[in-house]
Amino acid sequence: MSLETALAKRRSQRGFGVAPLTVAEAGQLLWAAQGITGRQGERNAPSAGATYPLVLYLVAGRVEGMSAGVYRYLPQGHSLQGVAAGDVRAALAIAARGQRWIADAPALVVIAAQPARTAARYGARADAYVAMEAGAAAQNLLLQAAALGLGGTLVGAVDEAAVRRSLALAEAEQLLAIVPIGHRR
Ligand SMILES: Cc1cc2nc3c(=O)[nH]c(=O)nc-3n(C[C@H](O)[C@H](O)[C@H](O)COP(=O)(O)O)c2cc1C
Repeated sequence: MSLETALAKRRSQRGFGVAPLTVAEAGQLLWAAQGITGRQGERNAPSAGATYPLVLYLVAGRVEGMSAGVYRYLPQGHSLQGVAAGDVRAALAIAARGQRWIADAPALVVIAAQPARTAARYGARADAYVAMEAGAAAQNLLLQAAALGLGGTLVGAVDEAAVRRSLALAEAEQLLAIVPIGHRR
């Protein structure tokens, strides 16, 4: 699929088909958002001063071959690190101001960040830089979803404290968005 077609097909999707995601699809989505593509560790999305504050989590509900749980994406090595077992999609749907449709997505990508990485270099501008970077990563993810025949939505309306509890985010990590992904209905 051409980039132009993926751009035209990207539309926020809030209902999903029953088919699970495959591990390959989940991996491809994460790679599109934060995969390493450069010899110096440069990634698919731009980053202020290459400080790379973003931390992505895969919340797997129905992903073939994967137990339901929360996994951290490790761009180096393109791998996943288990963080917590169990299905937290319903808890995250409640945390997202009761957007119940979120729990029906086979997988959610949570975009978090360690702003201190960027603030160490850019001070007060870091909040804006981290938000810009999250937007770039989210758009990569949504375009990749479109190119795979999948769909999703950038969800920003979240109760950060509730999401932090469900995901056991580290103190230094800030929640930015949740991107539910699944098959089109
Ligand atoms: C920062 C941001 C936050 C958003 N938060 C939500 C949200 O919490 N729930 C939701 O259903 N859509 C959310 N959206 C998606 C918008 O509603 C959607 O992009 C808009 O209606 C345009 O439709 P389109 O994405 O299909 O082109 C958000 C979009 C952005 C950019």
